[in-house]
Order: sequence, then C-alpha cells, then structure tokens
Amino acid sequence: MADERIGLIGLAVMGQSLSLNLADHGYEVVIFNRTAETTRSFIDGNPEQSRLIGTAEIERFVGELDRPRRIVLMVKAGEAVEAVLAHLVPRLDAGDVIVDGGNSFWADSERRSEQLATLGIRFLGTGISGGEQGARFGPSIMPGGNGWEEMREPLTAIAAKVDGEACCDWIGPGGSGHYVKMIHNGIEYADMQVIAEAYHLLRASGRSAAETAAVFRRFGEGSLSSYLMDITAQILEVADDDGEPLVEKILDAAAQKGTGRWTVEDALSRGQPTTVIAEAVLARSLSALKDERVHAASRLRGPSAPLVVEEREIEQALLASKIVCYAQGFMLIRACSGDLSWALQPARIAPLWRGGCIIRARMLNDITSAYRNDPELSNLLLDPHFADVIDNAQAAWRNVIAAAAKAGIPVPAYSAALSFYDGFRTARLPANLIQAQRDFFGAHTYERVDRDRGEHFHTQWAPGAATTPSS
Ligand code: 6PG
Repeated sequence: MADERIGLIGLAVMGQSLSLNLADHGYEVVIFNRTAETTRSFIDGNPEQSRLIGTAEIERFVGELDRPRRIVLMVKAGEAVEAVLAHLVPRLDAGDVIVDGGNSFWADSERRSEQLATLGIRFLGTGISGGEQGARFGPSIMPGGNGWEEMREPLTAIAAKVDGEACCDWIGPGGSGHYVKMIHNGIEYADMQVIAEAYHLLRASGRSAAETAAVFRRFGEGSLSSYLMDITAQILEVADDDGEPLVEKILDAAAQKGTGRWTVEDALSRGQPTTVIAEAVLARSLSALKDERVHAASRLRGPSAPLVVEEREIEQALLASKIVCYAQGFMLIRACSGDLSWALQPARIAPLWRGGCIIRARMLNDITSAYRNDPELSNLLLDPHFADVIDNAQAAWRNVIAAAAKAGIPVPAYSAALSFYDGFRTARLPANLIQAQRDFFGAHTYERVDRDRGEHFHTQWAPGAATTPSS
C-alpha cells in the first residue's frame, strides 16, 4: 500500500484534510487545484508531509499517476464537478477510477457513472461526512458506483473505525453512495432540529445557557449520546467578549445548502412520509423569515400560560423523535432501493454512521443491531428494542407536545414525529373520507374494505355530484 499514488483535485478545506489523511496512511498524493498558488502554499504549509506532490498542469497531474489511475475529486457539487470532468476525462484511459467525494446530487452521480462507464472509466460517487476534522482524521465514507475494488484499501484506511470496523463500505451501484449521503444529511437536519427544540423548551422554562448545557451533557450520557449533543453542550458554554453566551447573539435564521431539501423532494417524489425531515427543512425556512416573524410577533397573540414540563420528559421526547427520524431516513432508503433495484442493505449502511460522520450517535449501535438481527426489517419502529423504547417514552413525549402547545412554543419536529408514530400504528385512518370526497367531486373512485384491492367503485353521492369515473 505504501507509496501507491492517488490523485486529488480540489484543495478547499475538505480536499486539504483528505490529502493529509491519505498521506498519513502511506499514500503519495498527487495534487491539482485550479489555482496553482493554493497548491504551493498548501504543500509549503505542510513541510513534515513529504508524500504530497503538487502539480500545476492537469497533464502533469494525470502523468504522475500509476495506471489504473485513481483520482479523488473534492470540488463543489454541480457545475464545478462538471467542469473538472470535462477537463479530466479526455486525458484518462479505460480502467481509471474517478471518485467524486463532494456532496453531489445523487442523480448526477447516477448519470456520470453510466456515461463514464461507456468509456470504460469507473466512477465512484462517494458521500463523505465528518466535516474538516472528520476528513482529516477519519470520516464516514459512503461509496457507490464503479471502482470500489481499486478504492477499497485507501478509503478503508482513511475512514473512521468503530470496534475495529471501518466506517466505509460499498453502498451499491450508480448514485447510491451519494443517495445515502443525502439521507444522512436529511437525518442530520432532523437531528439538529430535535435538539434545537429541546434547547427552546429548556430556555423557555427559565434555564440559563450554562444550565441548558449541563442538561445536554446529562442527556448525552445515556441513549442520546451523540456528536451533535456533545457539540451543542460545548456551544452553549462559549461566552462572547462581554461574557454573555455567544449562542444568544447569533441571528435566529438558519441557512441551508440544499441536501435536506433534496431529501424531502425525493421523499415526495416517492410518496414517502418523511415528515420529521420535512419539518426540519421547513423549520429552517420559517426561521429565515426573520423580518416577517418579528413583525408578526408584535401583532399575533398566543397563550400566556407558562411552560410546565420536566427535564426528563424533554429527554424522552427528544429520544422518541430521534428514533422516528432515523426510521424515516431508512424508509426512504428502502423505497429508493426498491425503485432503482439497488438492493441497498440497511445492515451495512447503519454501521457506517457509527463513527466519523455528523450524525454519529450511540443509537446507531442499536440501529445496526436491529438490522443485523433482521436484515428484512421493514421499519425500524417495528424492531422490538425500539418499539419498547418508544413505548416507554410516549407518555412523556405526549406531555411535552401538549405542554409546548399550551405555552405557545413551536415543536414541529416532535409533533411531526408523534403524528407519524400515531399514524403509522393506526390500522384505520380517515383516508376513507378523503376517498369519498374525491369520488364525490371528481368521480375518482375508491376501493372497499369488503372487496379485493384493485377493484374500484364509484357512487353517485348526490344530485349534481360527479358522474363519470376518471381513468
Ligand atoms: C457532513 C455535513 C456536510 C455539510 C452539510 C451542511 O456530513 O459532513 O452534512 O455535508 O456540513 O452539507 O449542510 P447545510 O449547510 O445545508 O446545513
């Protein structure tokens, strides 16, 4: 393995961290960046790392690599990837491997994988999570597409390790690696939102930022232990220059780069009710309407009742909602895998998120066990362990939502998660009425509980109601 060469294009922060990680693991990293000056200063800035080889021209970059060439792209998703490929591909040979390690849209990776395969070039669309520190010292890596056989060793070497297992495994064909990374980010949005709701409730019930940090530390000692819980406690303890908590000075308008929205758009297109992820994305959108909210705050009335809720109850609401958000993420993976015949295996995906990535959490050990015990598990909520955890949490979870509603505090993710849970465990929902209404005004027909599925009926509900069944 030592002294094998890997090419890397793109020296933004993730590219730099990944180059150093590869070099630490014995690989010579041949580097190309659009601006050669960045390459020079990066190499000069890391004099102790002798395995970094800078190149200023793409021809030289390609020429420095052994065949089959292995090239990792760490450039911005979208047009930048397209531009680099246009430059690079004509200089490559059949058998070479391109790894796209950015946050590319999965359908782009699917297309690129197919197009490049016609040239014999293997394209591995690879989700990488963990931010700068993860990329530097061990990210979670989700490769999909072609070329795994060439990239298994280096990617496994640089990935995070949990219980001796690398957080890196081939996900499936085409764009599946980036698809699973997109779902990771959808879960990340939801996880951040459920934590933010706990923060809102804890602050609204009179706790200081420091006291709230202490509560998060306590929560983080149990089943809720996670990277995001840990950084939340750390954030709440940071003071601004005047000694006040810095977090309270941050404008409450959340930004988003789009991977959460992609997840929800994908869920809508597949008819999958990933409600917690959707609420998390939309809660960011609502937060971004800062001026409108400030205006409305002076006009619209809410209740004046104080928030009455116990710390333990918030912990349970957080726990139950978090389980639902994972359940929804895996529902979407399952649906897409079926639609595209990817044969994705949750039992191989869950363990990749135990370390290195933003959503790493103790709960992922139990999720991994759930899918390893039953690879065909249709929904995480049906796993006996998680069914029990939610059952034990539900009284507190319901209290928190009721208390928040009475006090006028929004908890969209907790509410969406509970409504999903209740909807999912309800054998008969009121959708029969919706079907009747559709048939009344549009003759859209309905199925009957006392007849076979697939048989459609129409009723002339009233004089003037629709008469002609639509096809
Ligand atoms: C990761 C992160 C990473 C990035 C998000 C932020 O897994 O390392 O998810 O990909 O920080 O894209 O997304 P937003 O800017 O949309 O919050």
